[in-house]
Amino acid sequence: MSSFALLVSPSANRVYARTASALTVAELGVLAETVLPGRLHDLGIEEIAGVDYVTFAGDLDETALAHVANVSTALALFEREGDLLRPVALHGLDCLDDDLLTILKYQGKTNELFTKLLLNVTVLASAASGRMLTDRLHVLDPLCGRGTTLNQALMYGWHAAGVDVDERDVEAYAAFLPRWLKEKRLKHTAGTSRLRRDGRTLGRRFDATFAVDKEAWAAGDTITVSVSQADTMETPAIFRAASVDAIVTDAPYGVQHGSRSGGALQRSPLDLLAAAVPGWVRVLRPGGAIGIAVNVRTSPRAETCAVLAEAALEPVDTEAYRGLEHRVDQAILRDVVVATKRRAGAPAEV
Ligand SMILES: C[S@@+](CC[C@H](N)C(=O)[O-])C[C@H]1O[C@@H](n2cnc3c(N)ncnc32)[C@H](O)[C@@H]1O
Repeated sequence: MSSFALLVSPSANRVYARTASALTVAELGVLAETVLPGRLHDLGIEEIAGVDYVTFAGDLDETALAHVANVSTALALFEREGDLLRPVALHGLDCLDDDLLTILKYQGKTNELFTKLLLNVTVLASAASGRMLTDRLHVLDPLCGRGTTLNQALMYGWHAAGVDVDERDVEAYAAFLPRWLKEKRLKHTAGTSRLRRDGRTLGRRFDATFAVDKEAWAAGDTITVSVSQADTMETPAIFRAASVDAIVTDAPYGVQHGSRSGGALQRSPLDLLAAAVPGWVRVLRPGGAIGIAVNVRTSPRAETCAVLAEAALEPVDTEAYRGLEHRVDQAILRDVVVATKRRAGAPAEV
C-alpha cells in the first residue's frame, strides 16, 4: 500500500478555503464508501514543510486515480517516499477551459469548488457512479440560478438542464454561454424559444448544443444544455419522466435569496423543497440520486432528510455523507443532503 499527499486548491473564497481540507477528507471518504470500497485508508490532514496536505494510504489503480483526480479541491497529488513527494499525474474529467466556471461573478453565486463537491458526492451515490468516468450523464439543477451546477456538469462532458424562476438569471446564462462558446471557437448551436406545455406558456427556454472539438462535432458527439425560465414546480411538465441520472441543487438559504414561487416570496426553503421534491423525483431515473445543499439554520438536516424520505427517496446518511457540513457565514451553516431513488425491483429497506 502506498501513501499519498493531496495538495488542496486555494479557493478564491477565504472562508471556504479554511474548510476545504476537512471537506476534501469527507469527499475522499465518500469515494471510499462508494466506488473505492476498501481502497482508501487513514484519511487525514497533515502539515508537510509548513503546507497543509490531505493524506491517505491506498492501492490506486488507473480508475481509482481517475476518481481521485475529480475530487473537487484536487490541485496536485504526490506519492510519499520517505521524506520525498513524487508527483502523480492527475487526469480528471474536465474537458473545457475552467474559466467557464469563473468568468460569471454575481451575488448569490454558489462557490464553484463546493458545487463540484456537491455534484461529485451526488453522482457517487447514484447508480450512474460506475459510468461517470466514461459516459455523458444527464444532470438537472431545478433551482439553477446562473448555472454554476450546469457549467460544472458541462466541464465533465455531461448533459445539463436547469430551471429557474428568475428571468434575469436565465437571460444572463443565455447571454453568457454562446459568447463563451464563440470565444473558445467551439462549434455550437444556441437559441431561445418560448416554453409551452399543454397549451400554456410557462416561460422561456434557452438551449445550446456544442462539441469539445471539430472531430467530435462531425461525429455527432455533442453535449447539450438547456435552461428553462419557470417555477420549479413545473419540472415534471418540462422534462420526461425518469430521464436524468442526478439532480443537484443549491436550495435557497432563506437569507439573501428567499424562495420564490411565481415571483413572490411565499415559502420557507423547507416548504419549497417539500412541494418541489415529489415532482423532481419523477424526472429522476430509478437508481438516480438527488443532492441538495441546504442552510441547516433554515432547513435542518433531519427535516430535509424527512422531506426526501416522504417523497419515497432513501437518504444516504452514512459517516462520510454526514461530514460535509461547513460554515459559510454567520447566517449560513451549509450541509449537503443526498438521497437515492430506489432501482426498479429493489426492495425497500426495512
Ligand atoms: C441558492 S440560489 C442558486 C444559485 C446557483 N447555484 C448559482 O450558482 O447561480 C437558489 C435559486 O433558486 C431560485 N428559486 C427560488 N425559488 C424558485 C422556484 N419556486 N422556482 C424556480 N427557481 C426558484 C432562485 O431564483 C435562485 O436562483
